[in-house]
Amino acid sequence: MSHVMNLLIKGADLVGAGRQDLLISGGLIAEIGTLDAGPAGVDQTIEADGLIALPGLVDLHTHLREPGREDAETIASGSAAAAIGGFTAILAMANTTPVTDTAEAAERVLDLGRLAGLVDVQPVGAVTKGLAGEELAELGLMAHSRANVRVFSDDGHCVADARVMRRVLEYVRAFDGVVSQHAQDPKLADGRACCHEGELSGRLGLPGWPGIAEEIIVARDVMLARHTGSRVHVAHVSTAGSVEVIRWAKAQGIAVTAEVTPHHLMLTTDLVTGYDPTFKVNPPLRPIEDVEALRAALADGTIDIVATDHAPHARHDKEHAFIDASPGMLGLETALSVVSDVMVGSGLLDWAGVAQVMSVRPARIAGLSGHGRPIAVGEPANLTLIDPAATVTVDREASVSLSRNNPWHGRRLTGAVQATVLRGVPTVLKGALA
Ligand code: DOR
Repeated sequence: MSHVMNLLIKGADLVGAGRQDLLISGGLIAEIGTLDAGPAGVDQTIEADGLIALPGLVDLHTHLREPGREDAETIASGSAAAAIGGFTAILAMANTTPVTDTAEAAERVLDLGRLAGLVDVQPVGAVTKGLAGEELAELGLMAHSRANVRVFSDDGHCVADARVMRRVLEYVRAFDGVVSQHAQDPKLADGRACCHEGELSGRLGLPGWPGIAEEIIVARDVMLARHTGSRVHVAHVSTAGSVEVIRWAKAQGIAVTAEVTPHHLMLTTDLVTGYDPTFKVNPPLRPIEDVEALRAALADGTIDIVATDHAPHARHDKEHAFIDASPGMLGLETALSVVSDVMVGSGLLDWAGVAQVMSVRPARIAGLSGHGRPIAVGEPANLTLIDPAATVTVDREASVSLSRNNPWHGRRLTGAVQATVLRGVPTVLKGALA
């Protein structure tokens, strides 16, 4: 018979509830209070003096590359990066080889995540077969499979055909699904578009990716959400114009949610001046005016959540001329530090707000009932312990991801994950895999 694991977390700052000890037993929070006597039968103690406890972080948008591109990332290595980043649940996008467009493919992702055992890996189902944008994938079979798929996305590609988008929205309503849209009109920003369209793209001779290509899809999709009564989620919002549309739609009561990436909250388009493909991402980095609008929108709730769009790429796909390199950046290990630095450091969000945008709301959007829960007796012990005062200098060589396309390399950020606990079991201690 296996022994029930008892974990004691001493003196963590439970935002709003002050400094408390947490006793965790059998994966659940068993007691909260001053447990100074040291309850009997404790197997492990974490000294959490000065650390903030948040519900385990949830990332609605990651690319784990397995199956098909295990040279860039695997479900195991991506899970490790997630745990280091303070995450207890992540959603794995469908743009793998083969595409996650069947129940079998979704169950395989789920099972590989369980095997890795560091974080709950929840598959995103493709909207269309092969991400081709034409025929709907096995939406119902994926939803009713063991993988219980609720989030559908052709991410990497836009569901550009309005008729297909309307159909999928009508279809997923039956099982409270949500469609996460990669908003990019393919005629206004085609496959070669790689730099925010403006003076800089002209000067650098790079094909422009104008904000309007995102905004018209966001505008169309919120109208389709209104028309169908379904939920639409806007992936990686990158422009002030998209924020305006989403703000309007929410005011109408339309069921739209939106995410912003850490990179779009901090990095600006001028970084591509040196043609370093590390800074190539889709949608592209934008000017400071957009970045500031995104920060304000996250602070006021117009943008609901932060999601990383963790997009590992092998060297041989990234180390090319800017225009030929694969778009994407690592994000899982650094997300909390970036949000801490840019949002908490500036006073735009407090830690309770970080819990909302990085745990509570993403769990709710994805329908993950065991995550994003209050830190309270009887709840699953999915937790992240954060040192708000720690200063880290990001070193891409220290990453547990298999890829090195890390735009944060060399940056000093304030705020760092110290420990992650998945259902009462530490996956990360003192910032390293447990
Ligand atoms: O930069 C990106 N990389 N944006 C996407 O939408 C897809 C992602 C990827 O899969 O590499």
